[in-house]
Formats: sequence, C-alpha cells, structure tokens
Amino acid sequence: MDKEYILAIDEGTTTARAIIFDHEGKQVAIARHPIRQILPNPGWVEHEPNEIWNAIQTTIATALIDSGIKPKQIKAIGIASQRETTVVWDKKTGLPIYNAIVWQSRQTANLANDLIKQGYKEEIHQKTGLIISPYFSATKIRWILDHVKGAQEKAENGELLFGTINTWLLWKLTDGESFLTDAANASRTMLFNINTLEWDEDLLKIFNIPKKMLPEVKSNSEIFGVTQNYQFYGSEVPISGMTGSQQASLFGQMAFEPGMVKNTYGTGAFAVMNTGNKPALSDNNLLTTIAYSLNGEVKYALEGSVFVAGAALQWLRDEMDLIDSTPETSDAAKQSTDMDEVYVVPAFAGLGAPYWDNHAHGTIFGLTRGTTDKDIIKATLQAIAYQTKDIIETMRSDAKMPIELLKVDGAATANEYLMQFQADILGIDLQRSSELETTSLGVAFMAGLGVGFWKDLDDIKKNYQVGKTYHAQMSEKKRLDLYDGWQKAVSATMAFKH
Ligand code: G3P
Repeated sequence: MDKEYILAIDEGTTTARAIIFDHEGKQVAIARHPIRQILPNPGWVEHEPNEIWNAIQTTIATALIDSGIKPKQIKAIGIASQRETTVVWDKKTGLPIYNAIVWQSRQTANLANDLIKQGYKEEIHQKTGLIISPYFSATKIRWILDHVKGAQEKAENGELLFGTINTWLLWKLTDGESFLTDAANASRTMLFNINTLEWDEDLLKIFNIPKKMLPEVKSNSEIFGVTQNYQFYGSEVPISGMTGSQQASLFGQMAFEPGMVKNTYGTGAFAVMNTGNKPALSDNNLLTTIAYSLNGEVKYALEGSVFVAGAALQWLRDEMDLIDSTPETSDAAKQSTDMDEVYVVPAFAGLGAPYWDNHAHGTIFGLTRGTTDKDIIKATLQAIAYQTKDIIETMRSDAKMPIELLKVDGAATANEYLMQFQADILGIDLQRSSELETTSLGVAFMAGLGVGFWKDLDDIKKNYQVGKTYHAQMSEKKRLDLYDGWQKAVSATMAFKH
C-alpha cells in the first residue's frame, strides 16, 4: 500500500500554507502563498474570501506536485486558520456579500464602545471569557448586516451564512455540504458561551444576529466532512481536524497539561496557557478561551497578546534604518556594551495586556552620549522579552499555577540573543520545538487523531522533538533590577500624554 500522509492547511493573516506531514510528524512538503491585505480606510483590514480559497487551492496543488504525493495518499486534512476574521456569504450562490473583515480591523470600534457604555462588559466576560473589543467576530457580523443592503432580512430568511475562515474553507472543500465550526474558533466570536458550550441566545439577541446563519459547533477532532471530488482531484478525503491558529500551535507544542504555556513570536506575539478543565477568568484582562475539545473533554486556556513583537524589529529595519535584515539583530545585540540601561517601549499600537492603554506611544529611556545603535537594537529585542514576561507573570497570578517552562515557536525564535534573554528575564527554561511550523503540525495531529492515523495523545507525543532548550542563567538580582527598570519605563510611557 502507498504511504499515507496528513495535509495541514494553515490559513494565516498574511500567508496561506499547505504542509504535508508523515506518520512521524515530519514535514514532507510545504507551499506558501501570500494573502492580499485590503486597507480601505485607516485602521480597517479586509481580505477577499475567494482569494483566500484560491490561495489554499494553489498551495495544496503545489505541495502535492512538489512532493509527488498523490491526492489519494492523503489520509485526512486539517484546517488551522487566523481566528475571528468574519465572512458572510450567500447560501445559494456561495458568494461572499462583503470582504472578510480581518481580526485586526478596527471598523467596528464604535460598536464595541457602545456595548461597553451599555454596561455589557461583565455579562460578556462571564459568558464568553472575552473582553469587549472589535477584535472578535460579533461586531463584525453586525457591521456587515448593517452595511450591505438587505442583508439583515436575508439573514433572517436563512439565505446568508456566517463563518470564520475555517468554516469558509470547510464549506468550499466540501462544496457546501458541511457548514460547521469547532469549539476553539467558536470561542473567539463573542457569541459562544464557553460554560454551556453553545451559541448564547442572550448574546445573539444583543447583537440581533439570527442563529440560523451560524454554523453548528463540533469538537476539534472529528470528521467534519469529505472533499467533494472536483475540489480535491477526484479524491474524497475527510477533513477531520479544525481549530484556530494559536490553539493549533498550543497543540503542536503538546501543551496538553494545565500550566503548560506556549508563545508564538510573529508580528505580534501570542501566549496561550492550558488551564485545564475549567475556564479561569482573568482579573487582568487576559482572554479566557477554549484550548481544544477532544473526545468529549474540553480544555480551557488563558491568552495574552503582545501587539508589537517582530514588528519592532521591522521598525528597526524599515523606519530606523539600523539593520538590513531582522536576523542581524541577534549579533548586533551581542556587540552592545552598555549595562542594559536603555529601554525601548514599542507601544506603537498602544499597550495591551496587562496595561491596556490605547493611547500610549512608543518611548526610549536611558540614553547617554555614549549610546550606540547596537544598544538600541538590544533594548528593542529585550522589549519583546519584557512584554512576554508581563503576560506570563499575569498568567501566573490569574491562573494561580506555576509556570516552569515556556514553549516557543515563530520566526523570531531563530534569534539566539532574544531566546537567551527571554529565558534569563523569565527565570525559567525556554524550549523550541524542532518543527517550527507548530500551527500546521498541531492541526495535522488533530486531523490524524480524527481518523485513527494516530491513536491518542501518547501516540502523537512520540513525534515531538525538542529543537533547543535555553536555560536561565541570569542572577536573580539582575533579573529583578532589569525588570524593575522596564516597569518604570512602562509607567513613564503611560504617564506621557501630550
Ligand atoms: O487571533 C488572530 C490570530 O489567530 C492570528 O493568526 O495565523 O495570522 O498568526 P495568524
């Protein structure tokens, strides 16, 4: 019999990927395709849903062609995707009625502010684990129904469907046969009750969103449907894993036990902590979300994001002109000879958890006549690590659990200086997996579990290989002193308004 494989789709905000994994969890093919960013107004970010579908088809074809693997050798497909991004389409024609409104988009900021003013903060937090924000899908659906002529009426007549990107891609792959989502993606809509695990009738009423446009919610690993033959080269392949990108990388990092945390360093950074069988609500505005639902068991997570991580290095390259490429920052930082007294606070998009200051601007502290470009580069890398520490410390206190190890992935984990400083400033070990595409790997595992390609979590654990471990080496005194300086820099940043 021909060897069998799992195909993972990772539809991210800026790039779509298709990756084929073998039974040992090894990548055998990868294809990427960029996603066009549509920016109609300041702060708005949109995608064209059919371009996303096109990009996915292109990457799947490329991965198959490049590897010589035949479509019938694909045992199952998993879909991981950017979360919250909202598509509304016509059930009959299959055509979107508006662009996909991307999670980053701020076009519904007023709707979110109105909800806060109307006093819904506590109810929404209790039910969904989320804070009211234009980030999540609910206000985006409302916006589309308000701005596309006749949409509300059509939605009420059952003529329109809503989905996050996973649901849209599933619907396309199955040619409209499967209209489903998974618990992890549902938990990012602000319409899903994470306690009852159902769409929340009260919230649907508040947003005036007809339930009939919402997909049914399933677990993260089961058969969601099969590819229609002309969507997958004549083969009927089950789609048996589905989740959001950050939950997928938590799974790919094998963070199955409470207290396990991963941090993905991309443009921003997303830290997610498995908190076990019960939702832990944060006192500091971290998000509570579903980590995964598997074999009837639901695991919850706390999540915090750093708005500016890799983006700060792009700033050094593109605006400050201090480097030609971001990987250079590691060596540059090692050449810095200052005593770590420079602090860069890259509050380019305000400050997120635990500070939540939308109006803060970036600052630099501690300059002397002797400060060099290398010192500024080092301080910028350190800022990524300090911001991650802010979130990890908040998680520790919100979840009341010790954190002994941070699992890391994402492009910036190749940065040796950053990784070592991150371990030092946290005072715990950092572990990078050997597979850097942990999002795809995570959803491949879910899909494989859904069809018995892997038996259970123990079976997939055999496939995890540590790439590199960074041990904390800094003295406690130095760690406390440096972090104290960071906290003073952040306070001064927040106090500076003009
Ligand atoms: O919440 C947004 C997040 O899912 C972004 O996804 O895949 O672009 O890193 P990604």
